[in-house]
Amino acid sequence: MNSFELNKILAAIIFTVIVVFGIEKTTDLIFQVKTPPEAAYVVEAPVAKTVTSDSSKTGGVDIKALLALGTIEHGETVFKKCTACHVVAKGGKNKIGPVLYGVLGRKSAAITDYKYSKALIAHGKVWSYAEMNSYLLKPQAHIKGTKMAFAGLKKEKDRASVILYMNSKSDSPLPNP
Ligand code: HEC
Repeated sequence: MNSFELNKILAAIIFTVIVVFGIEKTTDLIFQVKTPPEAAYVVEAPVAKTVTSDSSKTGGVDIKALLALGTIEHGETVFKKCTACHVVAKGGKNKIGPVLYGVLGRKSAAITDYKYSKALIAHGKVWSYAEMNSYLLKPQAHIKGTKMAFAGLKKEKDRASVILYMNSKSDSPLPNP
């Protein structure tokens, strides 16, 4: 094979490559290939269920872990933010807000000689740990229209502590979660 023949072969190869790529480019231009925006069908994977805690019932909050952050002693200090409106002592009187003795485990809006807002009456839930945690985080957000004019307790430790403190002021405290 002489160099002239080799050149012819190389030229043929280069020519073929150009033609093949050329055709590919041209067809792309003619039949504009669009990728569909969404997959035609979606394969749904089964959603794994959490079995370790019942956080589904508590708005995603692990109450046990939350309460572990608090102490009754710290709760007594935090409760000073509530005393302008609430008494927690046994036999205490309603102030701007209802008496809170035994409130954990009690139905919401259950004090008969206190005039609750329509919103809290309609709420109709028992004050579980989780309910209390959500309410104290942001009262107005948890129960729209509640007349408790309190911004909320942002710190988990403060909420946990005040909940433990209130639970200790009761004839029948809620059991540990
Ligand atoms: C500015 C006054 C005010 C402050 C401060 C306040 N509350 Fe209240 N609270 C109220 C009022 C008023 C209601 C009644 C709400 C309604 O009827 O919607 C209420 C209701 C409640 C209820 C529901 C009671 C029931 O019988 O269903 C709980 C629990 C509660 N407050 C806890 C607290 C805690 C804990 C704090 C402190 C971290 C606090 N509040 C601070 C005024 C206040």
